[in-house]
Amino acid sequence: PHIRLIGAPTDVGAGTRGASMGPEAFRVAGLQPTLEGHGLRVTDWGNINGPANPWQAPVGGYRHLAEVAAWNHAVHQEVHAALSEGEMPMLLGGDHCLAIGSISAVARHCRRLGKTLRVLWLDAHTDFNTDALTPTGNTHGMPVAVLCGHGPAELTGIGGVSPALQPSAIRQIGIRSVDAGEKRFVRESGLEVFDMRYIDEMGMRHTMQAALAGIDDSTHLHVSFDVDFLDASFAPGVGTAVKGGPTYREAQLCMEMIADTGRMASLDVMELNPALDVRNATAEVALELIESLFGKSTLMRRS
Ligand code: ARG
Ligand code: MN
Ligand code: MN
Ligand code: MN
Repeated sequence: PHIRLIGAPTDVGAGTRGASMGPEAFRVAGLQPTLEGHGLRVTDWGNINGPANPWQAPVGGYRHLAEVAAWNHAVHQEVHAALSEGEMPMLLGGDHCLAIGSISAVARHCRRLGKTLRVLWLDAHTDFNTDALTPTGNTHGMPVAVLCGHGPAELTGIGGVSPALQPSAIRQIGIRSVDAGEKRFVRESGLEVFDMRYIDEMGMRHTMQAALAGIDDSTHLHVSFDVDFLDASFAPGVGTAVKGGPTYREAQLCMEMIADTGRMASLDVMELNPALDVRNATAEVALELIESLFGKSTLMRRS
């Protein structure tokens, strides 16, 4: 694939500032040359422009709705353009509200090509809140609900078709923080969630086999990687860290098994917050995992 890096330097959807510096921290960690070192073709398209973070309190259940919509429209256009031009978009966040623009673009692309979309949502959080359920008003806690058609028209309408996504297209992995109302809504909606208890009991290998089951040659696999998926002990540079996440080894296996499918066609890497990081270590560890996602392995492997 030809990878197209798209920076989206904003934190308008978050409750802690700093994810706006994520794209540059990945560049400083050497994202492009590292991937090129594995023989991958990579072009850095630079950063998307969007409104500044006004840092206001939520209004009507949403913080910064107009700014969140503007950023997501811009992300939608850029991600859709990359796919239309035959490249693999890698969105560098930015907070996770931007998955609305990214995944709505991927869904639109898949509708046009008659491809089946599978979304792997790697996250500590289900991000399935609505204005009525959210305890914070932060839209980075809402993208999955919005993509499934639950949210304000300014966001659900991005990409032209709502819902952009059926819950049955989504597999969530690494979940360990779900708000009270959100919990009920996740259950009602039938989202398939592999939470930390599932991973503890069944192991990452079985978890990934289950999450990847049913993928075939016509599947477009989208990975939405919220860096807070990782255990905060080795990935502290995130705004909403939750303890008890996958270990470094478990996360590596997760990425390797995704790579083995050969179906990943688009990627978000979200929520990296350099203001909370320690000497860019979280960017560097996320980059190691991204290398595995693109097929880096210790030995030559037989299929
Ligand atoms: N559930 C919390 C909220 O809605 C936290 C969401 C965190 N989401 C994220 N993408 N980091 O505010
Ligand atoms: Mn999260
Ligand atoms: Mn649009
Ligand atoms: Mn998230």
